[in-house]
Amino acid sequence: MSKYQEKQFNMNLLSGISEKQTEEHLKLYAGYVKHANLILEKIEELSGEEGDNSYVISELRRRFSFEFNGMRMHEYYFESLEKGSKGLSDSSKLAESIGNLDSFVEEFKLVGMTRGIGWVVAYFDEPKDSIQIAWVGDHELGQLGGLPIILVMDMWEHAFMVDYLPSEKKKYIEAFFDNINWDVVEERFNKLNIK
Ligand SMILES: [Fe+2]
Repeated sequence: MSKYQEKQFNMNLLSGISEKQTEEHLKLYAGYVKHANLILEKIEELSGEEGDNSYVISELRRRFSFEFNGMRMHEYYFESLEKGSKGLSDSSKLAESIGNLDSFVEEFKLVGMTRGIGWVVAYFDEPKDSIQIAWVGDHELGQLGGLPIILVMDMWEHAFMVDYLPSEKKKYIEAFFDNINWDVVEERFNKLNIK
């Protein structure tokens, strides 16, 4: 069985997010890759064993989306912070779909203040030619089925608590926006080949 590979991220020095914070966060990401693989291995192993393992296998399957999305969401996150901050090009197709950037950013930040741990996710909703912003609990609860992911912000406390107190969540959100490489986000969007 092929395995998921841990991706390497070329993280420059970020503004307002320390090297130590990023280092610790990348270690957590590596844990999700490891556990996504581990669950698949366990399911395969138990499926080949004699006896009734169906209950254990079902619970492992239930757990898989947590580990898998924990891996994938962190990949979206780190990719968008790689290679230094870059602004969104006004003439891009993404800028056109976003419409008013200030309103988008304001809503995204507001959703970031949702209580609890999770992610803010901006998806592209093609039938409406618009961006949908959603809160995703843990890594997988409330994902909008089938909509491609454009931008994510990690709102687990582990994403910022090396640098900020829980009450300083807003400062971390500002720091995240200061570091976005919109070239990466635009490229992600362009791959959707929206006419
Ligand atoms: Fe995280």
